[in-house]
Amino acid sequence: MGEITNVMEYQAIAKQKLPKMAYDYYVSGAEDEWTLKQNREAFSRILFRPRILIDVSKIDMTTSVLGFKISMRIMIAPTAFQKMAHPDGEYATARAASAAGTIMTLSSWATSSVEEVASTGPRIRFLQLYVHKDRKVVEQLVRTAERAGFKAIALTVDTPRLGRREADIKNRFVLPPHLTLKNFEGLDIGKMDKTNDSGLASYVAGQIDRSLSWKDVKWLQSITSLPILVKGVITAENARLAVHAGASGIIVSNHGARQLDYVPATISALEEVVTAAQGRIPVYLDGGIRRGTDVFKALALGASGIFIGRPVVFALAAEGEAGVRNVLRMLREEFELTMALSGCTTLADIKRSHILTEGNRLRPVPRL
Ligand code: FNR
Repeated sequence: MGEITNVMEYQAIAKQKLPKMAYDYYVSGAEDEWTLKQNREAFSRILFRPRILIDVSKIDMTTSVLGFKISMRIMIAPTAFQKMAHPDGEYATARAASAAGTIMTLSSWATSSVEEVASTGPRIRFLQLYVHKDRKVVEQLVRTAERAGFKAIALTVDTPRLGRREADIKNRFVLPPHLTLKNFEGLDIGKMDKTNDSGLASYVAGQIDRSLSWKDVKWLQSITSLPILVKGVITAENARLAVHAGASGIIVSNHGARQLDYVPATISALEEVVTAAQGRIPVYLDGGIRRGTDVFKALALGASGIFIGRPVVFALAAEGEAGVRNVLRMLREEFELTMALSGCTTLADIKRSHILTEGNRLRPVPRL
């Protein structure tokens, strides 16, 4: 393996190392994968307007998320089944996030339990929640997360049914037999059966509550005092509803383009959501972040932080914990360099006027 100089290089290594069924599961988007391409391409249509001759000898990236101090605004999104990428799975991701001083979000469908991840040491962590039809299961998981010191819940709202991921259908995707959904072990819902379809799509159809609605955000608030981030908002209308429902934050996400195809790239939807949230709750973003310049663009458009998904699983597959550490290090260094080259020494210096989107190429140049 030659020297890795950017996070995208891990994808090719993962492809070589992983069984086809696992790699296809990680890499795929829904249907035509139009949104999957847009999640990346939309970043390349945003250009910089750097400020020059500013003393950038010291740059401060420390920040807080929901009141918790972290080292940078780059966090880890929930991705399921990490032990399929590497035997250390979620343990490796948790350790790498801790070493980098940032937040890991653990998937409901993790192959390591909430307690196992907590056993890697006390850190700020979030739990991603899918709402099962059996609400007792959900309540139990939330309680376990509270006890294990998790600090927030990311409620995924874009998955009443699983998007159509055709590679998983062709591969008849199921979890390898030695792995289980560890959070549900012993509950008879920790296994995925082989079917004539994507095994995961059948699992979701059988287990996940399609009737989930805004009133269930209230229900969740009634069973926990943890802050709730609504993950999967990409319109102003839904942003207003999330504020109204008492969410503590919004994650602008299209689930890594794995749910509804032909929704816009998240970076293209971000500004409308930020405007609708009116600063009442923080807005985060995931989808297609692969460079420090992408992080900067998201913050300039009003995001309070970003999450990465696939770069973590590909790096895990390639090098385990060391790979995830390297991904976080490279993104941090690239982001710091982008700040310096744009003339920003603190996060508060990053302004909308540092970037140019297609929508405002024709607008008059802002007065500085
Ligand atoms: C996901 N994502 C996801 N989201 C969620 O809420 N719960 C989950 O269990 C998973 N699992 C999952 C597995 C894999 C393999 C991928 C690629 C994605 C979506 C994830 O949290 C995030 O929204 C996207 O991955 C962000 O896009 P990028 O960084 O992968 O482009």
